[in-house]
Amino acid sequence: MKESRPAPVITIDGPTASGKGTIANKVADYLEWAVLDSGALYRLTALGVLRSACNADDVAAVAKVARELDVVFRGASILFEGEDVASAIREENIGNLASRIAAHLPVREALLQRQRDFRRPPGLVADGRDMGTVVFPDAPLKIFLVADVAARAERRHKQLKEKGFSVNLTDLLEDMRARDERDRNRENAPLKPAADAITIDSSALSIDQTVKQVLDLWSNKVSQGE
Ligand code: DC
Repeated sequence: MKESRPAPVITIDGPTASGKGTIANKVADYLEWAVLDSGALYRLTALGVLRSACNADDVAAVAKVARELDVVFRGASILFEGEDVASAIREENIGNLASRIAAHLPVREALLQRQRDFRRPPGLVADGRDMGTVVFPDAPLKIFLVADVAARAERRHKQLKEKGFSVNLTDLLEDMRARDERDRNRENAPLKPAADAITIDSSALSIDQTVKQVLDLWSNKVSQGE
C-alpha cells in the first residue's frame, strides 16, 4: 500500500514587511491551499496580554495567554473572543510587543501545535520567521523572502496609511530595524533561512513577479516528483 504523505507545505519566512503575507495569500489563492499567518498568532497573544493587563515580562503568564487564545480565522476576519481584530493587530505597538514576547520559548511552544494544525490537504502556505526551520522542517519548498530595509519601510508605511494609521517613516524605519535585530538575534527560533531554503530578494520585484517565482519553484518541485 502507498504510504500516505502529509499535505505539502510551502514556507515563506523573512523579516518584517518583506511582503511575506501578500505573497503567501496570492500563492495560496492560486493553488487553492490554506494559508497560515503565524505572525498573527504572536500579534494576537500580544493583544491578549494588553487586554488582560498581564505583565508582558511574566513569561509563564504570557505563555498561558498564548495557549488559551480564543481565535477563529474566517477569510479576511480574525475573530478574537468573538471580535474582529484583523485590523487592530496590525498596529505597530502590537507588532513590537509580539516580537518581544516571541523571544520566549514557552510562548513559542504554546503556539506550536496550533500552527501545525493548519496543515491539511491539498496543502498549506505558511508565513513567518521559523516556518521552515522549526514549525514545518519537512516542508518540500522553503522560501526566504528578503528586501532592503528602505523598500520594506516604504511598503509598511503605505500599508499602514491605507489602513488609516498615522505613522512617521523615520520612526517606522527605526522600529523595523530594532524588530529585525531582535527577531534575528534571539536564542529561540531566530529569523534565519533553513539550510534548504531558497532566498528571493523582492526589493526590485513586483508582487506578481515574486508570486510567479514561487509558483515556478513549486512547479519544478512537482515535476521532480515532490
Ligand atoms: O510577521 P509579523 O510582523 O506579523 O510578526 C510579528 C512578530 O511576531 C515578529 O516581529 C516576530 C514574531 N513572529 C515570530 O517570532 N515567529 C513567527 N513565525 C511569526 C512572527
